[in-house]
Amino acid sequence: MSVKLSTGVEIPIEMHKARMVQKIQLVPVEERLKAIEEAGYNTFLLKTKDVFLDMLTDSGVNAMSDNQFAGMMNADDAYAGSATFYEFAKAVEDVLGYRHVMNVHQGRAAEHLLAKVFAKPGGVVPTNYHFTTTKAHIELQGMKVLEIYYDEALKTESDNQFKGNMDPNKLRKVIDEYGAERISFVRMEATTNLIGGQPFSMANLKEIRKICTEFGLRLVLDGSLLCENAYLIGKRERGYEDKSVAEIVKEMCGVPDIYYMSGRKNTSVRGGCIATNDLKLFELLKPWLPVYEGFITYGGMSMKEIGAMAVGMREMVDPSVAGCSVEQIKYFVNRLHAAGIPVVTPPGGLGCHLNAGRFLPHIPQSQYPAGALAAALYIASGIRSMERGTISMDRDKDGNDVFADVELTRLAVPRRVYTISHIDYAIDRIEWLYAHGDLVKGLKFVSEPPVLRFFFGKLEALDNWGVGLKEAFKSEIGTA
Ligand SMILES: Cc1ncc(COP(=O)(O)O)c(C=O)c1O
Repeated sequence: MSVKLSTGVEIPIEMHKARMVQKIQLVPVEERLKAIEEAGYNTFLLKTKDVFLDMLTDSGVNAMSDNQFAGMMNADDAYAGSATFYEFAKAVEDVLGYRHVMNVHQGRAAEHLLAKVFAKPGGVVPTNYHFTTTKAHIELQGMKVLEIYYDEALKTESDNQFKGNMDPNKLRKVIDEYGAERISFVRMEATTNLIGGQPFSMANLKEIRKICTEFGLRLVLDGSLLCENAYLIGKRERGYEDKSVAEIVKEMCGVPDIYYMSGRKNTSVRGGCIATNDLKLFELLKPWLPVYEGFITYGGMSMKEIGAMAVGMREMVDPSVAGCSVEQIKYFVNRLHAAGIPVVTPPGGLGCHLNAGRFLPHIPQSQYPAGALAAALYIASGIRSMERGTISMDRDKDGNDVFADVELTRLAVPRRVYTISHIDYAIDRIEWLYAHGDLVKGLKFVSEPPVLRFFFGKLEALDNWGVGLKEAFKSEIGTA
């Protein structure tokens, strides 16, 4: 939510009060340099004792509500037939409108099952934009991901309100080129994670549905950030101004054949689910659930988490929950944009994305500007962000880097966790770093796993630039 002050200025406002807190600490800059060196300049490998604001992700780190905790305490722990699962299934039916649901341990487990069950030889999956784990699972089944966004999607600074739209003409071309029989499914991601958390419009979702129906293609909706997408439809799409988030969510979920989500985001728990109204599709997936996840009434999740997820499913469509991060992100992005910092616009639904390509224009993609920016930001602030650029792309078969479409450093805004003073602090340190961008150089891999290398890969700073950055910070700002 946001409120207008008497001065006319609009600010995001927290529609909750903190009644339980967790202490955080800001370690001195020397310790931050040591910590990032030990982490191989990879923010994933930092320890939280060294992190001040953890903006690595919004996944599994949101604040649960009091009612969600109560849901955990009341959970019915049973291997099979748990009453808590049926409460969850009822919440899914009421909120999303799906009659059949199965839990999975997290979003990528849903991707694994969908890719496995719907795999086709030489198959392709057209998507509005890939997500790292989605792509990995599709490729592990010998298929290929085809990105069919509008060109505008990769324009980092734009006033296009729906950069997450899929280009229907490109979808028709893909069908023409590959044939419908090679298309495993068409995937729409609600707010494109890797290119700035940008939403798609309801009109676009329905247009893609029409094409899928015309050619007998399955449409899959990744609803991990469903409510943020719905909230932004309400704010940005003509005809939806007076609809509630709950109504928009229901309408969106009525469009695809299959829905899946990481529950770690919208429902603020550690789990996920797959849901549908098509019993035949459900029955195709169901036998594999106990093989990879668990029995149908728990699917690899703890019953306590399913109890919290049942409550979170109902709470997530409340505008104060659906809009909580979106409004903070808008404030964050607009302030940086106004200060001339290269940041992805318009603000999306996931976090604030710095355009590392423009922030550090002297670093070539082969030296990973987005990774260098994430490490530099940690040294300058104690804030942990995430590289979403070339390090997040795995090498091709010949061992060459695959350059990302855009080099972004993402500061995710977990739901109900940080306050505006935290965001003001982040803005200040980003501005300081932008003014000292020349002190930051590239990175070089020293160890690199063969798949999803961004998780465990270790790098070193070219010319040991971290030391110069630390010295500049100490002389201008001090130790913290
Ligand atoms: C759009 C999207 N899909 C799928 C996933 C994977 O979900 P999980 O992290 O729960 O495995 C994520 C995670 O960030 C995501 O953002």
